[in-house]
Amino acid sequence: MAFDQRFLEELRQRIPLHSIISRKVKVTRSGRHWKACCPFHGEKTPSFYIYDDHFHCYGCGVHGDVISFVMQNEGRTFNEAVTELASLAGLEVPEQTPQQKQRQEQQHNLYELMASTHEYYLSEFQTNKAKIARDYLLNRGITPQTIRHFGLCWSGDGRGGLIQYLKSKEYSLEMIGEAGLLRKQADGQWGGELFFNRVIYPICDRRGRVIAFGGRIIGDGQPKYLNSPETPLFSKRRVLFGLNNLSSVYARKEIDPLYNTILVVEGYMDVIALYQAGFHGAVAPLGTALTQDQLALLWRASAQPVLSFDGDGAGRRAMLHAAEEALPILTPEQTLNFISLPDGEDPDSYIQKNDAEAFLEIIRHKQNLSNVLYDLSVEAMTDRSPEQRAALRARLISISEQIKDQNLAKEYRKVLLDQFYAQFYPRNDRFDNKTTFEKKQKKIANVSIVRPVLQKTQVEYERMCILIALLFYCPSIIPSVEEALCRLDLPEDLAMAREILLDFPLDYGDIYLYLKQIGKIELIEKITSNSNLNLLNQNNYDKVTDFQLFEKQWWHFYGWLNLQELEEQVTQAQQAWIKCPDEAHQRTLIARLNALDAVKHGEFDV
Ligand code: UTP
Ligand code: MN
Repeated sequence: MAFDQRFLEELRQRIPLHSIISRKVKVTRSGRHWKACCPFHGEKTPSFYIYDDHFHCYGCGVHGDVISFVMQNEGRTFNEAVTELASLAGLEVPEQTPQQKQRQEQQHNLYELMASTHEYYLSEFQTNKAKIARDYLLNRGITPQTIRHFGLCWSGDGRGGLIQYLKSKEYSLEMIGEAGLLRKQADGQWGGELFFNRVIYPICDRRGRVIAFGGRIIGDGQPKYLNSPETPLFSKRRVLFGLNNLSSVYARKEIDPLYNTILVVEGYMDVIALYQAGFHGAVAPLGTALTQDQLALLWRASAQPVLSFDGDGAGRRAMLHAAEEALPILTPEQTLNFISLPDGEDPDSYIQKNDAEAFLEIIRHKQNLSNVLYDLSVEAMTDRSPEQRAALRARLISISEQIKDQNLAKEYRKVLLDQFYAQFYPRNDRFDNKTTFEKKQKKIANVSIVRPVLQKTQVEYERMCILIALLFYCPSIIPSVEEALCRLDLPEDLAMAREILLDFPLDYGDIYLYLKQIGKIELIEKITSNSNLNLLNQNNYDKVTDFQLFEKQWWHFYGWLNLQELEEQVTQAQQAWIKCPDEAHQRTLIARLNALDAVKHGEFDV
């Protein structure tokens, strides 16, 4: 009985290969993969490697997938193996309808038709007329060995030679068209051959079967590359050029593993040039942006594939697009890295001008996804105005919210916002070196603060709660304390409250209603009750009028947490007041000075 391909594919994906093999031999983890002593030949040290979708023994060369393992190791027929595995996976073996059977036979024939077409193109490539194609490839620095490896060839002149050849093998015009090799005329009839006078790049599936072609014009002209249309065998959004090379990546253990990096590049020639330079893990989408299906293929090969882009504006945009496409399906185990090439270079041109070592160096400098997202978001700012800063912060938050994995989303939010605070609210570097550290210690010793005997962290936490609670009580002071607020290293719940405060539109009015609307009232009530201020019941929210008192109190608590920073803030307020001695600046300065004074005199009663 023949099975539906999609069913078999699902079966292969559902059943972890290592679990089936572990029924026979002891299996241990080896990095992302598994290894074991080969069950097919006696050995004492493991050379049998198990990957997501296939196994390979570097000792005896045996190779296969979950179905062939059961067949070979347990002596089952194909049907028996599939039936057994399906019941293990809890899948119904689908009954095939006559139509499905017919479609499958047709698919089978299409593979053969494509293989025959490739044979024809290869034989055309050897003719005198094809010298121009051979010279073209050689002039681009491609060796005969690489040409053979990729099966590069020539379409012929397209005047019916291919059709004739395929007809002699009993293929109908209908099937040749179905395989995407003919042009379709306006009247719906099949026309002449799609590819003519083009260098041909066969596109293969994972198992190396030819499923489509790309054809490049020799020299200039439009379109530069012509690709097969969508066919029953080929969907360009689900295929990557070079994917069939990846199995050889696993076999190369003697080489610097960086050469085996799974790399996504833009074009056919990039994959080919990189392969020739020793990078066997390069693949390319087919003239479209990377899709989620393609990302899934990549993640089966590597937890962190590296995406390569041009350094120019279009390259940066493509990079952002790819990063955003990946966000919803990121997990802690599958992410992306990025490299950028110098302006105007693609991997092909770069490697022709430089060498493999130079490209390795670029890979060594790969950037991780969160850094790339941060940098690209900052690049999108038009200036450093408050509006642009607010937009950037909102964008960083929305990036993390696109990640469906909740734990990872939380970490992204933290990392992105930490970068934002570090860049836009930098800590003064004097905190970082030793001499100033000593100065700070001395200063603190000079101030005689009588501290209550309580565990320090608990005290600090309560003070932080007070700082946050005061702002909910009197949001109008947020703008004047914002910078200092952002510099506080807050625990998670308080950091979230800070986010809410910074997001609160001051002209909204009633913050209690706002909190209700965004569903955060509980979080805030927990914080305000921890603060022991107890001012914050619903009736009090909008009754504060003495802003100055609140501002002074805020700085007072801030000074207890970080005296150095309060002193710094006083200095800043002094400078601002000198530059512009208006009432607002004066108020700010006085609030901070009063607070500093109170802290230094050890006042507790605020
Ligand atoms: P590029 O224009 O960057 O091509 O397109 P390239 O790979 O550098 O090609 P060479 O070096 O000039 O030969 C990148 C990819 O976009 C697709 C192809 O897959 C190509 O490899 N493409 C490009 C098309 O499908 N059609 C086109 O007309 C151009
Ligand atoms: Mn190129």
